[in-house]
Amino acid sequence: MSKPDDFPEDFLWGAATASFQIEGATTADGRGRSIWDTFAETPGKVLNGDTGDPADDHYHRYAEDIGLMRALNLGAYRFSIAWPRILPEGEGKVNQAGLDFYDRLVDALLEAGIRPWATLYHWDLPQPLEDRGGWPERDTALRFADYATVVAEALGDRVGDWMTINEPWCSAFLGYDNGHHAPGRRDTAAALAATHHLLLGHGLAVEAIRSTGHPARVGLAHNQAVIRANGAHAADVRAARRADGVRNRIFTDPLFKGSYPADVLKDIAHISDFSFVREGDLATISAPIDFLGVNYYTPEFVAGSDRGLDPAGVDGGGGAWPGAEPEEVHVSQGLPVTQMGWEIDPRGLYDVLQRLAGESGGIDLYVTENGCAFEDRVSEDGAVHDPERTDYYEAHLRAAREAVHAGIPLRGYFAWSLLDNFEWAWGYSRRFGIVYVDYETQERVVKDTGHWYAELAGTGRFPE
Ligand code: NOJ
Repeated sequence: MSKPDDFPEDFLWGAATASFQIEGATTADGRGRSIWDTFAETPGKVLNGDTGDPADDHYHRYAEDIGLMRALNLGAYRFSIAWPRILPEGEGKVNQAGLDFYDRLVDALLEAGIRPWATLYHWDLPQPLEDRGGWPERDTALRFADYATVVAEALGDRVGDWMTINEPWCSAFLGYDNGHHAPGRRDTAAALAATHHLLLGHGLAVEAIRSTGHPARVGLAHNQAVIRANGAHAADVRAARRADGVRNRIFTDPLFKGSYPADVLKDIAHISDFSFVREGDLATISAPIDFLGVNYYTPEFVAGSDRGLDPAGVDGGGGAWPGAEPEEVHVSQGLPVTQMGWEIDPRGLYDVLQRLAGESGGIDLYVTENGCAFEDRVSEDGAVHDPERTDYYEAHLRAAREAVHAGIPLRGYFAWSLLDNFEWAWGYSRRFGIVYVDYETQERVVKDTGHWYAELAGTGRFPE
């Protein structure tokens, strides 16, 4: 008999990673270059000049890492496939050796009884495609669909759960608008075109995966922002509406309603006329998906700056929203923060799940990422004591459980991340793992949070 406060027995417990962040081995077995190789090698772009090597050398240590997943009682592992390993030029000739790596990984996961959840695009665009214009170009979406076909044909007999794109907002806006991420461009019109082509790439990849004929559940991982007006002041409410438009509805409306939001198109009309949208695109983008992945870390508070509040950092670097009024700012709410400076607000997770359950029409939801960075070190007793991280997880998972009990179709949860890894522009300085990685020796140490999570995943109950 399960206790009323348990998670459902079939609730899926997982952990997530991404190729560029953990694999290392950036020149092994014919891998091509990605925009993150180029960006990281550009002085001043990534903290301490860190690059994709060695990362966690997971490319060579995947078997050991699957052993860790077993010890953590994971039912599923979310990883991403590096497009440049499969198609070093971004298109054309398939690199069999690259594909073989994922073949081995998937087989080993299945052998360990762990469900492989594969993301096709977690930000490592092949550099040759960026050289031809990258995501602002329609051709990139078409090439993405070809890549999806290659991968789904090769792995679809064993991988049943697919995510097309991870956090399209980050790829579009951090990549092409504020330039904090690869490829580091600063061109808002390009970011808006990238938005459309990422969504189109998603829709085309859904089609590609389904047309292999293998049974597949397909979705994407979206970082819906919880945006709250800082007050009832008209300027704050207006700022929140605009931010919500370009941060959330510009993605979720095409996906779930088959149209771009009219107020957003109006807000940004001086930047882009959206003439890159072609007939049929929105039907492709809004084709039904099987689940929605939700990545949540922190809420974002927005205010009109005429109110004299302090600007705050936001996920991935922030910056003004395209089309923002000059007086629009993000503000701090004075909540405790993680090492990223991100405010800790578990209620935001509940809110985002509740809202998306409504907007996505009742499809299954999964938290495909949630977690935090804190300064970790290995103690003299050989353990990594990270009580702040455990608190973060417990608070967010209590919110998740509340969502389940409220009837929100939340079916599983993936911790970000399995391993400490390359945290993009922050390099190796920010540790999100539930497993600690010593980058010198590649030794792994399960953090206290990892042990805690293993118990929860194993029993479906919060450890006493
Ligand atoms: C979301 C991204 O998908 C992931 O790659 C990143 O490491 C985490 N956020 C933490 O910033």
